[in-house]
Amino acid sequence: MRIPLIAGNWKMNKSIEDARSFMQAVSDRLPEPAQIETAIAAPAILLETMLEMNSANHLRIGAENCYYEDSGAFTGETSPLALSEMGIPYVIVGHSERRSYFNETDDIINRKVHAVYRNHMTPILCCDETMGRLEAGEKIHWVVSQVTGALKDISDDLARQLVIAYEPSWAIGSGKSASADQAEEGCYLIRQTIADIYGDDVANQMRVLYGGSVNPDNISEIMAKPNIDGVLAGGASLDAKTFLQLVNYQ
Ligand code: G3P
Repeated sequence: MRIPLIAGNWKMNKSIEDARSFMQAVSDRLPEPAQIETAIAAPAILLETMLEMNSANHLRIGAENCYYEDSGAFTGETSPLALSEMGIPYVIVGHSERRSYFNETDDIINRKVHAVYRNHMTPILCCDETMGRLEAGEKIHWVVSQVTGALKDISDDLARQLVIAYEPSWAIGSGKSASADQAEEGCYLIRQTIADIYGDDVANQMRVLYGGSVNPDNISEIMAKPNIDGVLAGGASLDAKTFLQLVNYQ
């Protein structure tokens, strides 16, 4: 049984005051993680604030990115070791915005996946798909190459813990989500790719999320799909009331 994960990616949004208000608004209103896991990935500056307010909250606090070395002369980067020492359990790796704006390659993303696991955290690995590749019929090749490239030399045991988010970039921030069937097709393709690499046992344990304009109106149909274990919401995760509506999708 895969525990559903309702996750949010705040991107470069929210002041410390906004984060405090969000944490107060959701505090004690989230389910036990054993029923439905909830997580918010926040900009580095907000992590301390959220962790300090996280006592009776059940909300997992994630990072949106990290570097692939634990320490050294890498000005401006975030150490995965420091995130781990702060008690961060999840790190988003390979978001389409990292791939497109910051030129992150599959090799860099693979190093980051290793770094996150090395520091006893769990990657939320993002796989994207542009409209161009979709229309060119390259969806399968593109998604498969991202998954295999990101997981080079990752063991079966680590792969079991993995979370992969299928986030078609043409649906991100557009307000136009993929249909539930399109989301299922992408998530099924990812799970099959994991099965091809690691076998069905690992593929059936790891979790696959959908991200791209998820909102309270479309989440129930998306979550009803057999290969979708949760969502990674951007805009809909910024407002506490809306995030709680996502959490209460059933
Ligand atoms: O990582 C999730 C994000 O890319 C989706 O953003 O605003 O389309 O829900 P949004």
